[in-house]
Amino acid sequence: MMKTQNLLSSVLSGKAAPRPPVWLMRQAGRYLPEYRKLRTQAKDFLTFCYTPDMATEATLQPISRFGFDAAIIFSDILVLPHALGQKVWFEPGFGPKLNALNTSDDVNNLDLGQVTEFLKPVYSAVTQTRNKLPKETALIGFAGAPWTLAAYMIEGAGSRDYAKARKFALEKPSAWSKLLNLLESAISKHLINQIEAGAEVVQIFDSWAGALPAYGVKAWSLEPIGRIAQIVKAAHPGAKVIAFPRGADAFVSDFAALPAVDAVSLGQSLPTEAFDHVRKAGAIPQGNLDPVTLICGGDFLIKEIDNILNSNRNSPFIFNLGHGITPETPIANVEALIKRIRDSA
Ligand code: CP3
Repeated sequence: MMKTQNLLSSVLSGKAAPRPPVWLMRQAGRYLPEYRKLRTQAKDFLTFCYTPDMATEATLQPISRFGFDAAIIFSDILVLPHALGQKVWFEPGFGPKLNALNTSDDVNNLDLGQVTEFLKPVYSAVTQTRNKLPKETALIGFAGAPWTLAAYMIEGAGSRDYAKARKFALEKPSAWSKLLNLLESAISKHLINQIEAGAEVVQIFDSWAGALPAYGVKAWSLEPIGRIAQIVKAAHPGAKVIAFPRGADAFVSDFAALPAVDAVSLGQSLPTEAFDHVRKAGAIPQGNLDPVTLICGGDFLIKEIDNILNSNRNSPFIFNLGHGITPETPIANVEALIKRIRDSA
């Protein structure tokens, strides 16, 4: 008997579909009143992430409300630096903070050995979520890419240009390559663990790839992501890998050509021609509605949705935003988006 496949997995296998699958980055979060209510029950954001019942409920909230074609496990990219032994906390109204890495000793103190044990609550949430999800809904696991994680780990917070991290790379090349190699192993392990717990697709977020100089993209983003995807596929040939090199727009076709990468997520700065460029290079495009159009809604939102749909007619494609949904997004606009995509079948 043929295994019934959900729409996302089917499109990721290159099959034609009557309409594209749709999910949104950060679809579980503060724009949902039910999320804000649940969030008050945890003393801080990381405790929320490490409480499987809460993470499961947050993951399922946008599925119950909107019926997206995929759920993404509720967690954060910064649980991995935390699992490696770095201090990580979230300051309300500010965002993530880390005890910044400054020296090669700081890098040497990170410990790969604890990752699986430390992140057990995340894997429990994945299994629990898979058991509760409708079978037609795909479950996506994720991790930050080596560059984006290293950038947070060295800066100690978000940054405009990640100059401290880029200086570290040039001034301390051996500590830098040690850090990137360690992250490559940790990320591969974390993605494989999520697949073994029940995720069928994984997305690698290189959210700050756009801050890299051209000389860094290949060695610090493209090649590590290619190797991670290969390690994941070697362990689980049936799993699917989506890469999101946000802002590395000149290199989109290079990411699409990576042998173990199935799909490339595009930011909103890319024009619609990029969808075909990705397919020609050998991957399936995902994206790339501007999150601000989803805040503002109206005729312009519908025009932009149709523009994306029309650029991908009869070709494998995954509908998403160009970046995460923001807290001020009206729920009615998300409903209008889903309806427009469903009605396009
Ligand atoms: O629904 C989902 O997409 C799953 C959950 C998810 C979160 N973070 C929950 C979250 C995912 C996939 C992430 C990934 C993530 N985290 C990225 C990559 C995606 C991107 O946006 O580029 C990055 C860079 C982070 C780091 C991070 N976590 C930041 C910068 C912040 C603060 C953002 C802000 O607006 O305050 C977080 C916190 C965070 N992660 C929240 C959520 C729902 C908000 C915190 C809260 O609810 O208290």
